[in-house]
Amino acid sequence: MSNKGTAVITGAANGIGQAYAVRLAKDGFDIAVADVVEADKTKELVEAEGVKFFSAVVDVTSPEATIAFAAQVQKNLGSITALVNNAGIYPWKSFEETDYDTWRKVIGVNLDGPFLMSKAFVPYMRENKYGRIVNVASTTFFLNAPQMTAYIASKGGVIGFTRALASEVGADGITVNVIAPGLTNTKSMRSENAEIYEFLPKMQAIPKVIEPEDLVGVVSFLVSKDSSFVTGQTIAADGGQVRN
Ligand SMILES: NC(=O)c1ccc[n+]([C@@H]2O[C@H](COP(=O)([O-])OP(=O)(O)OC[C@H]3O[C@@H](n4cnc5c(N)ncnc54)[C@H](O)[C@@H]3O)[C@@H](O)[C@H]2O)c1
Repeated sequence: MSNKGTAVITGAANGIGQAYAVRLAKDGFDIAVADVVEADKTKELVEAEGVKFFSAVVDVTSPEATIAFAAQVQKNLGSITALVNNAGIYPWKSFEETDYDTWRKVIGVNLDGPFLMSKAFVPYMRENKYGRIVNVASTTFFLNAPQMTAYIASKGGVIGFTRALASEVGADGITVNVIAPGLTNTKSMRSENAEIYEFLPKMQAIPKVIEPEDLVGVVSFLVSKDSSFVTGQTIAADGGQVRN
């Protein structure tokens, strides 16, 4: 076991989650990944940093699978100190095109996921009287952004859930915060909407396309001991487009 303990990251087989995994490995955490696809590349990158890695194919919308995963992480790596609820989906659809199944799916992954993962992992953190939970929202919550009703509703829910959970677990040494990234360069996001990269970054105070690596320092701080008295907060990491 590393001296920082284990950081659990959902959706870290790809994109921004993979970058969080690599940074937290560099910080000295052992890394556990839950994703619906295999996390082979993430395993290679994390192990290159000299820490332990464990992953399982887990759907974060499953109450049974998330509980079973927490037990596996405890058994394989132990000392669970951090949870980053990063798994998320963002189908680009107008309100008219958003049927109830799409709505349920987006709320399921983006909001039920952090709830279920927290249900599964908070008991281990309570036992240790220490924990760091980072939920992932999006600055679309603070913007005039069309075609994203289910997504923005889910990310608003994530901010509300974070505030409420922070109030219940603080006495046990557990903090709960949100990182709200701006538009970030990932394959998934480019496949949903490539044109948006042409104009949106220009509206930021720092007018450059955000790369996953630009976000990792915020998560590194929020899972560190240095953030002990920061809880229930939302940190926008978006090049200064919104002021929340
Ligand atoms: N890319 C952006 O511009 C951007 C901006 C703001 C916020 N975000 C948020 O950041 C997070 C990561 O985004 P990304 O662009 O890296 O996405 P991505 O698609 O590259 O990665 C998301 C990962 O989540 C996994 N996943 C999907 N459904 C899952 C489920 N049910 N259970 C477990 N894993 C599941 C996917 O397999 C994938 O590996 C999301 O929460 C997203 O909403 C992204």
